[in-house]
Amino acid sequence: MSSHLVTNIGELLTNDPTLGDESMVGRLTNAAIVIDDGVVAWVGSAAKAPSCDIADDVMGAAVLPGYVDSHTHLVFAGERSDEFEARMAGRRYDGGGIRRTVAATTAASRDTLLASTRQRLAALRRGGVTTVEMKSGYALTVDGEARLVSIATELADEVTFLGAHVVPEEYATDREGYVALVAGPMMAACDAAAWVDVFCDEGAFSVDEARHILTAAKHANKQLRLHGNQLGETGGVGLAVEMGCASVDHCTHVGDAELALLGASSTVATLLPSAEFSTKSPYPDAQRFLDAGVTVALATDCNPGTSYVTSMGFVIALAVREMGMTVDQAAWSATMGGARALRRSDVGHLGVGARGDVVVVDAPRVAHVAYRPGSDLVAKVIHSGHRASAT
Ligand code: NIG
Ligand code: FE
Repeated sequence: MSSHLVTNIGELLTNDPTLGDESMVGRLTNAAIVIDDGVVAWVGSAAKAPSCDIADDVMGAAVLPGYVDSHTHLVFAGERSDEFEARMAGRRYDGGGIRRTVAATTAASRDTLLASTRQRLAALRRGGVTTVEMKSGYALTVDGEARLVSIATELADEVTFLGAHVVPEEYATDREGYVALVAGPMMAACDAAAWVDVFCDEGAFSVDEARHILTAAKHANKQLRLHGNQLGETGGVGLAVEMGCASVDHCTHVGDAELALLGASSTVATLLPSAEFSTKSPYPDAQRFLDAGVTVALATDCNPGTSYVTSMGFVIALAVREMGMTVDQAAWSATMGGARALRRSDVGHLGVGARGDVVVVDAPRVAHVAYRPGSDLVAKVIHSGHRASAT
């Protein structure tokens, strides 16, 4: 591989406070970056940039690390636009539609699922995502979940087993049996997934059920994450902290006591404003989380029910407009925050030694991503990751 210089960068966010202006985003102006063998080898002033095999003059454009989308349900078939319309007319989201996607996904062939997941992945990539997490969760049988995990493993950087998405109809009178199936044979069949997640909320799994599954996951040496507090204050955040989850995702309804627990922990709060958008729910106040010392990530939650969204730019715009984040905070959370939620130190920043994943914004300042929503404003993506390409 050759050395690659990106130069004449108007605004460069490195997320390395030892570089640049010492802010959380480590901002440099009139900057350049060198990527050597897929790894950041040099960062500094454009005037001092070394010569390289390839040179990209971005003519004053802004550059930031590739987005880290730490929460997607990308492997699915079908769509649920009728539910979206009903919600816009006032109907509440209750998770019930998950079973419709389970039916459509189960009926789809592996090739069909692979093709549609690749298409969604390609859209994420065009929008600047260079690291992606994908969950299973739309099969709810041992073989079906293993199939979804195996598809995700072909495409994603990080794969999560979400057998505990909802209790399937067949187990309606035997919840305990389903929880035991998930914690036992289903988790074993999905061993290729490094992560285990549970939807712990009203209409899904209780705190005790989720604790049982996460405890089994811990014994199986899995890393843990949790869907929590999306529909109510149902204890998911407290459980995530208790279990040492890397991340608790949604956090739409979090009281002060749970927030304090989160702030004192290393669990990241992954906020998903496009889910609030698409379910017409109240947006959480991100400043409350930040003031409490919580590390915040932003992700798309791409799924056919609550957030059929493949644009991190849109997520950033919502975070700034609706959740009270500054542009710097939102840009950090969509990159470094996602990396923290996945416990990855090689992505989400552009310090020397980081993976050379870079988004060149089609504008002179990163603020344009929020200021001009409706377009991803991505001029170019340099993706040094080694996963299979989306197309
Ligand atoms: O993250 N809340 C749980 N899971 C998804 C929604 C799944 C669906 O409705 O299909 C979410 O919002
Ligand atoms: Fe989700």
